[in-house]
Amino acid sequence: MSQLTVVANRLPVQPPPFGNGLWSRSPGGLVAALHALLAVHGGTWVGSTGADCGESLPTDLGYRLQGVSLDEATVRGFYDGFSNATLWPLYHNLASAPVYERQWWVAYRRANEAFADVVARSANHDSSVWIQDYHLQLVPAMLRERRPDLRIGFFLHTPFPAPDLFTALPWRREIIQGLGGAHVLGFQTADDADNFRNSAARIAERSAESPPVIRRRLPARADVGVFPISIDWDHWQRLASSPATAARARELRAQLGSPRHVLVGVDRLDYTKGLEQRLVAFRELLRDGAFVAPETAMVQIAVPSRDGTAAHRDERARIEQLVGEINGTFGHVGAPVVHFLHRACPPEEIAALYRAADVMVVTPVKDGMNLVAKEFVASRVDGAGVLVLSEFAGAARELTDALLVNPHDVDGLKAALLNAVAMPRGEAERRMRSLRAAVAAHTVQDWAASFMGRLVPALAA
Ligand code: F6P
Repeated sequence: MSQLTVVANRLPVQPPPFGNGLWSRSPGGLVAALHALLAVHGGTWVGSTGADCGESLPTDLGYRLQGVSLDEATVRGFYDGFSNATLWPLYHNLASAPVYERQWWVAYRRANEAFADVVARSANHDSSVWIQDYHLQLVPAMLRERRPDLRIGFFLHTPFPAPDLFTALPWRREIIQGLGGAHVLGFQTADDADNFRNSAARIAERSAESPPVIRRRLPARADVGVFPISIDWDHWQRLASSPATAARARELRAQLGSPRHVLVGVDRLDYTKGLEQRLVAFRELLRDGAFVAPETAMVQIAVPSRDGTAAHRDERARIEQLVGEINGTFGHVGAPVVHFLHRACPPEEIAALYRAADVMVVTPVKDGMNLVAKEFVASRVDGAGVLVLSEFAGAARELTDALLVNPHDVDGLKAALLNAVAMPRGEAERRMRSLRAAVAAHTVQDWAASFMGRLVPALAA
């Protein structure tokens, strides 16, 4: 795989904020998954350096970094605009209203061209290129045109929406055509792959009625497959089983005031993640007296994310208001009920938090996969802990022994949280054994190997 070029909007590291020379790991599941792959096999990672990265890229990751520089207006239209205010809500079942802005589309196309140009210049002859995610859906076709010698794979980390939603997009044909440049197109679930196929078919049908000049530009035949992403099992196992993590987990519970029940959430602060739904259910359980503070406490890590979009800023305001209201009503001096951290935490601290939890609450209203659920399971080396998981996360397909919930159903969510804290130990352990077997059986290394295995023979044929 040493010839592999991974292309993603984000580089796996982000520049030092205060010019102190220290790069840090970029947030998110995509980075965690692909860094693990390239660190072992080598290759090149192509990603955006944004508008004004004056720093030179680190050279000690075990693979090469190649930057794509975009001016500020392009970043705003491409990332904040089209990627995160148009596509993101559209691809997550309208979790907020998509904004259709023609200038953003122009910036999206311009940014995709810039990525395609950099890869076309730097990829080795006859090598493989693996393009990632919704930011770069035009790159496969752009690259295929520039470099027909390359094997091109594309993987969508988000859901792909149902045809009724997707076809509302004014640029639906261009997106389908862009994706169609890939030799292998990967999705998280069978539903996503079906949604893509059905959307492409519907658009093809419509354009069959269009003039031939438009018809000619319809998608090439890509090999469409389902490749559920996963985590680096060994990494989380190692982290979670270290004595330092176990000690930190005990310390965290003590710092929380040694409650009987600790519920934990770890998410990017995003309206698709269902933080609001889980806090509303939690508040009602406190109101009902079913949960009593300080006997029950919740820790919510909300990693800052995409604050360039209005919908994400509004979500932050709603969550902070809810947390304030819950703590104001049910907390005590020195003992809040919801411990809310709006910041990223190092993986060692997250692993300790996973181990300190009685219940992990993962309630997205829509999610491509949700790797946090899998990280929690991998971290429970003690075989304990209960996972409450939204049926709308891709992970619910594999983690069927979690307590599956519909986050919009407040009563159902309340019942699941109560069931989770009261679950007899034997049942919790049985469920956790089955969850651990499911995650261990399909790691991020298996994910990458199955995608690459499909990409390379696809071209040999
Ligand atoms: O879930 C989609 C996704 O692109 C992930 O693949 C990624 O880890 C996450 O969103 C991070 O998003 P951003 O780069 O906007 O912080």
